[in-house]
Amino acid sequence: MKKVVELAPDTWLPGGKPDPLGRSKHGLVGAPISRIDGPLKVKGQARFAAEVPMEGLVYAALAYSTVPKGRIAALDTGAAEAAAGVVLVMTHLNAPRMKQVPLFMTAEKAAGGIDLPIMQDERIHWNGQPIAVVLAETQEQADHAASLVTAAYAVEPATTSFATAKAKGTTPGLFMGQPLKTAVGDAEAALASAPHKVDAVYTTPRHNHNPIELHAVTLAWSGDELRIHDATQAVAHEAWSLAQVFGIDEGQVRVTSPYVGGGFGSKTLWDHQVLAAAAAKLAGRPVRLMLSREGVYRVVGGRTVTEQRVALGAKEDGAFEAVIHTGTVAMSPHNNLPEPFILATKGAYASRTFKLDVETTALDMLANTFMRAPGEAVGTFALECAVDELAVELGMDPIELRIRNEPEKDPIEGTPFSSRHIVEAYRAGAERFGWAKRAAPGTRREGEWLVGMGCATATYPYYRMPGGAARIVLTRDGRATVSIAAHEMGMGTATVNTQVAAERLGLPMEAVTFAYGDSSLPGAVLAGGSQQTAAIGASVIAAQRELATELLKLAGNDTPLAGLSVDEVEARDGGLGSIVDPGRFETYASILARAGREDVTVEAEGAQPLETMHWSMHSYGAMFAEMRVNTVTGEVRVSRFLGSFDCGRILNSKTAASQFRGGIIMGLGLALMEETQFDERSGRIMNPSLAEYHVPVHMDVPPIEVIWTDIPDPHTPMGAHGVGEIGITGVGAAVANAVFNATGKRIRDLPITLDKLM
Ligand code: MOS
Repeated sequence: MKKVVELAPDTWLPGGKPDPLGRSKHGLVGAPISRIDGPLKVKGQARFAAEVPMEGLVYAALAYSTVPKGRIAALDTGAAEAAAGVVLVMTHLNAPRMKQVPLFMTAEKAAGGIDLPIMQDERIHWNGQPIAVVLAETQEQADHAASLVTAAYAVEPATTSFATAKAKGTTPGLFMGQPLKTAVGDAEAALASAPHKVDAVYTTPRHNHNPIELHAVTLAWSGDELRIHDATQAVAHEAWSLAQVFGIDEGQVRVTSPYVGGGFGSKTLWDHQVLAAAAAKLAGRPVRLMLSREGVYRVVGGRTVTEQRVALGAKEDGAFEAVIHTGTVAMSPHNNLPEPFILATKGAYASRTFKLDVETTALDMLANTFMRAPGEAVGTFALECAVDELAVELGMDPIELRIRNEPEKDPIEGTPFSSRHIVEAYRAGAERFGWAKRAAPGTRREGEWLVGMGCATATYPYYRMPGGAARIVLTRDGRATVSIAAHEMGMGTATVNTQVAAERLGLPMEAVTFAYGDSSLPGAVLAGGSQQTAAIGASVIAAQRELATELLKLAGNDTPLAGLSVDEVEARDGGLGSIVDPGRFETYASILARAGREDVTVEAEGAQPLETMHWSMHSYGAMFAEMRVNTVTGEVRVSRFLGSFDCGRILNSKTAASQFRGGIIMGLGLALMEETQFDERSGRIMNPSLAEYHVPVHMDVPPIEVIWTDIPDPHTPMGAHGVGEIGITGVGAAVANAVFNATGKRIRDLPITLDKLM
């Protein structure tokens, strides 16, 4: 169990003060400001990684192994080398010697999804592993030549079936160094003696990443310096990790990534960036490597398969006696992400006993990885379906059952909640959605269609990783640039952080530039874990305080601010002023002019994320689905969806709504269509294209309403919680529960396709 250290809860803020940006003067926080990068993207003027021009550029294509395990016995690259336009074919025989990519979470800035040598020997570890890189003068020439590479393999027995792997035994999962295993009391005994219970197995398939922008790099060496234009959610981590691979200094690698067309956990460091850099070194020319859609399935990991048991025991009044959530996930021997499906269950409900456990099995497959709400997306499907099943067993409304089991403090850790208003979110959502009109299962019919409603709880943890420093440059013309190595993947980061920085500096939006997406900037903020804005916020809080300190020094005694300390001033109206006395104020321009300065530059690091040790911190939501199931064809359609969220203060009501909606749409894919077809005989992914791997299209998505409490959390920067991942959580269960309400059929295996309802 986590040790609770007695610390001031808000030590990330000077003086232990909460930071809900309560002294907002410009009305920017929360405003529905459109994305500042929107016009550039709509006009095609935003330059993505695969669009950066370079002198003498060559284009890369990959050839992939067709067996899951063994050795390359013979590799014939002759035809490829002789093909038109080919500059170089790189294989394990001529690739430069490189160290392994540091695997995620094994070091502060480790960014690798996989822990294997890349093209250093003849070993094959998964079906689809790159075996050759072809460089040519055009992309078409490279693609054609790559198709001419042939290989013979000395095949070795591989484990590619989940059932076979499980039969060989399981190993306890570890997530960020912590075992994914918790017990409180004797849950099996409590379950056995509970008067009401459910006990079922829920299964979810593999999922592959499909951001619209394909993974791509354009890069060049200049001596020992590597310049990379990448699509990434970790610029600083990638620079450091690539420096380890090539045995150079971190400062010799510069990664920029100003625009990213979706990441969802996939835009980290995989084989393709390393191979492109290695091939560029070998060829002595700049290289562009854009994975094909199939290439993304071969080289970039996805969400792994899970098999989860959820058993709930309850007393007559519905109070939980036992919460059991255990099961097994597939992993590869070369990564460290066991899909942590119990994370949401840890904080969801009060119960007398708990038994939570994620076990892993090893398969010879591409390393699985983070995908939007890793753990919670599929874990909430199992848990929240089980709660619905128990409500049926008890004859109780499922919202009422959830409210009866609402915990007063963290049920496992015992820590208080920093801010939890999920009951309010349920009440508001139920009212708005018309929950009271829900009929008994299988009784509402409209023509050929059975119609039903379901709900489920959404939840995702609040994280804040130490983000390092932010820099603020303030110039005499009253403009500021805030710089930090962070990311815009389409979430609205650039816009929201400009808003927040402008508010904090007391400047209008137009006077603030937020610089990000460049590893040469200060800080190292990962766009992941729905924590980037909190991490940036903490660093900018520290830097703004540093700026105010510096300005008070420069102002000296010949100013209305004379004698005020940094704790007694606030930023407002383009300057600093006394918090209590509106008359004591001086503009930045005036302070700088009198001091004879053109600008002032400060840099400061955000405080350590101690708030999560003191409080139980999560984003919350109540999800409502209305489903229609066709009695003739089994076709399943979602006709209405509503998400009612409690995620602290909403910083931009437009971009946050889009994050919630986008998450819900991805959740509809998870519920109804996404499924990687993994051939269990060969370990090969058989549907590596959007033609055969289905994600929701416009016709699949109904109008989605999103509402929120907008109650600031007093213990986080800006009072905000993350909004990036929570939207996908709970959706699978809300849909499955609505399908049950429509049809009386309980589907415990995702995706809910028509064959399962016929
Ligand atoms: Mo997310 S799966 O933390 O990019």
